[in-house]
Formats: sequence, C-alpha cells, structure tokens
Amino acid sequence: MNNPSYNGLLTTIIIFGASGDLTQRKLIPSLFNLFRKRRTPKKFQIVGFGGTVFTDDQFREHLYKGMKQFAEYEFTDEDWNIFAPNLHYHPGKYTETGDFAKLGEALTKLENNDNANRLFYMALPPTLFPAIIDNLNATNQLHENGGWRRVVLEKPFGTDLASAIELNKQVHKALNENQIYRIDHYLGKETVQNILFTRFANTIFEPIWNRNYIDHVQITVAEKVGLEHRAGFYDGVGVLRDMFQNHLLQLLTLVAMEPPASFSASHLRNEKVKVLSAIQPMTPEQVAVCSVRAQYKGYRNEEQVKSNSTTPTYAALRLFVNNWRWKGVPFYLRSGKNLAEKTTQIIIQFKEPPTTMFPMQAMKPNILVLSLQPDEGIHLRFEAKAPDTVNETRSVDMDFHYDEAFGKSAIPEAYERLLLDALQGDASLFTRADEVETAWSLIDPILQTWETHQTPSLAVYRPGSWGPPEGYDLLARDGRRWLNEEASMMLDK
Ligand code: BG6
Repeated sequence: MNNPSYNGLLTTIIIFGASGDLTQRKLIPSLFNLFRKRRTPKKFQIVGFGGTVFTDDQFREHLYKGMKQFAEYEFTDEDWNIFAPNLHYHPGKYTETGDFAKLGEALTKLENNDNANRLFYMALPPTLFPAIIDNLNATNQLHENGGWRRVVLEKPFGTDLASAIELNKQVHKALNENQIYRIDHYLGKETVQNILFTRFANTIFEPIWNRNYIDHVQITVAEKVGLEHRAGFYDGVGVLRDMFQNHLLQLLTLVAMEPPASFSASHLRNEKVKVLSAIQPMTPEQVAVCSVRAQYKGYRNEEQVKSNSTTPTYAALRLFVNNWRWKGVPFYLRSGKNLAEKTTQIIIQFKEPPTTMFPMQAMKPNILVLSLQPDEGIHLRFEAKAPDTVNETRSVDMDFHYDEAFGKSAIPEAYERLLLDALQGDASLFTRADEVETAWSLIDPILQTWETHQTPSLAVYRPGSWGPPEGYDLLARDGRRWLNEEASMMLDK
C-alpha cells in the first residue's frame, strides 16, 4: 500500500459483535473488497470477538456464507482463500474484564509481540459501548504506545440529548476525540459526498445557492421496506431517532453549509456544526404545526410491537436555518417505512421568475434534483419554448446518471469508504461529539412534545402510500407540495 497515512505497522481490526448481521452483511464484504483493490494496509488481520463460540475456521466459514449471500460484487474462491487466513476469532463476554485481558494476550500473540495499530469496531448496540471501552481501558489496550488506537462506534449514538452527552463523557474518559469515529453510513455514500462536489467543485451553483434564489428545499428518505425483523429494536425508537437525528440532518448540513476552507475533518465538521447551531430548536407550539408523526396501518400487529405502540414510522418536519444565507427558506424533511418507493432525494426548488413576458403561461419554477439513491444522479428542470407554438413553454430536463457517466457498479458500498477512512485516520466523514449533541438538541424538543403531550396526534397511513394526508398539509399550508412524484417522472425518462 503506498498511502503515506499507513505507518507500515501491522494493523489489527477487532470487531465486537463479530457474529452479528452487520459484520456478515457489510463489514466483511467491504473489507474484502478493499483487500481486492489493494487498499487495506499491507500487513493486516481481522479478529472477531463475540458471545458465539467459533473456531477460526468456523468463523471463516460463517463469513464465507455471508459473502455468498450478501456481497454485491462477484468474487472468486481463489481471492477469498487469499483473504480468509487474515480472519481470526476470539469468543468472550463484553462485560467480563477477564475476557478482555485474554483478548489482549491473544492480540499480542497474533501481533508477534510487536508494535501494531488497532482499530476497534463496535458493531453493537450503544448500551454496550461503555462496558467495552472500560474493559479495553482497564486492560491497557487503548494507549497509543507504538501504534495508533482507534474506535469506530456504530449508530445510534444515544437515544436523546442527555444519553448522548453521557455516552460522550464515558468514551472521552478513555479516548481522545481524535481516536473516535462515530459512523453515519449516509456519509459514506458516494452521492452524499457528491453534494459537496456539486456545490464546491463548480462555480455555477454557489452564486444562486441562497435565499435570494431558492424558494425551499425538500429532503425525502423514503423506504419501501418495513421493519425487516428489527421490530425489537425499532419499537420505542421510531423514525425520528432512527433516521432524522443522523441521516436527514446530515443531508441538510451538506446542502446548507458554507464552503469549508479545506476538506479536512475539522474544517468540514466545523461548518456542519454551524448549520445545526443555526436551526432554532422548536417550541411545543411549533412542534404542533411544523411536525407530522404517523404510523403505518397494521404496525401494531407486527411481531414484537406493542399492541398500543405510538412509535412513529413516518415523520415530516419543517425547519429553518436562521443565518444570512437561508433565513426564511423552509427545509422540509420527511422519512418513513413502508412507503410507495425506496428513494432518497434532495430537491431544491428555485424561485419563480419575478415577471413574465409569456402571459398565457403559469410559470414553473426550476428544480434541481439530487437523486442519492437508487437512480443515482442529478437532474435540472427548466423551461423551454415548445416548438411550433407562439409563446408556449414546456418543462425539459438536463440530467446526469452515475451508471451512464461512470459505468454500472461504479458506486462502492458506503462502509468501504468509511472503513478505509478510519484505517487511514481521516475523520471527515464521521460525526464529532458536538455535532451529535447539537443534532440531538434539535430532535429532543420534538420527541418530548410528541411523547409527553402526544401533540400533534399520531396520523395513520396506508402501507405503500407516500404517507399520511397530514404530510401533504404541512407543505400545502405554505402553498407548496412534495415534488418527488414529478421528480421520479423526470428520472424515469
Ligand atoms: C439505518 C436505519 O440507519 O438506515 C434503518 O437504522 C434504515 O432503519 C437504513 O432502513 C436505511 O439505509 P439505506 O442505506 O438503505 O438508505
């Protein structure tokens, strides 16, 4: 590996929760692909740790089955057989300090008593993070003497502001902030990173990217799937904690942020925090009119869901970023499960022309669609003269599709990029402590009003629809409507 950020030492990646779903579905396919692309450190190994008892061979077999089932790329057994000897397993309990002492000994042995880097990956619920970090600390495995030590933390990071602050306190007892990599897998998506490139690698968008030209912004993260056997986790958590506190607010920061001085982690994250800090937390009165919470019909009959559950599976919010660039421009955010389509889109609607010389026409505003998934691309709708008419206009579309421009399967799995960045010590695409806490400070008042006052009341929507009527009303009150159906038509063309 010729990347200068690898320091030549053996790197051990330790995965806690190694027998779980995430490891099999995402982490190993991503690490294997990085290996095939020769992007892993020259000397590396992966050690799984978990409650299940596996031998190394059983662990490899388990992961091989996962590869066959989940890898989104073709691979040969020959490649796998070169990769597999790097995989090891060590069974143990997360709460047993003695098991961590044994893990430490096993790692030292695997590292031939030599200096080595260690990346600890927590593919587990956050309630287990403090015990694991305490145990690693107690067994002296977090000191950076002779190699770096980094910890990757999976989401969700806390369940509200107080728990996020507490979790940050606990991890900071043993780790410096620059050793901590909090994952939001949306930031690993190529199309999400491309928001920054579209805005800041071009000059044509930035002059009009503000309240003078933009009418409003819509961010939709719609899922066709329902709970997918995750009801035990999901019920009581709900869409605001699961999707808004992290993914949707991250998308908003990338659309709204000022150009950072550089792509460095601190410059980028400073700008994102500034955006979040410019959003006024909602008062209960605002929550009542600027938020929608809903549950799909039949949710309460799902296995492991309480029969009187009020957990929302859909939400929509209207937020304002109170700074010079965005004052008065609404950002409408929505996300839900069991909706009509899987689509993640950011739609920027520009203002209408101030006057028109075409009296017969109702002017349509320009819209820019950043289609993040599944049909990755960018579309710009503008008006053109309809041929053979005197003064009629017709909406037309300029578009860019990733698969046309870069070839099919050009887009790697988000975890590949994030794992690579963590290995290389680049935290730009990970969320910082203050960023997570500021995001919670916006979500908390909404949750409190919903959960304590039951306001607004919980709406119901039909599975396979675009959400409840209340979701449409949120925009209709402002004389606007969700544009995704129109945008999907543009994409289909
Ligand atoms: C996860 C949520 O963070 O993101 C899931 O916990 C959700 O509920 C998933 O399904 C969506 O991710 P993606 O990459 O499929 O849009």
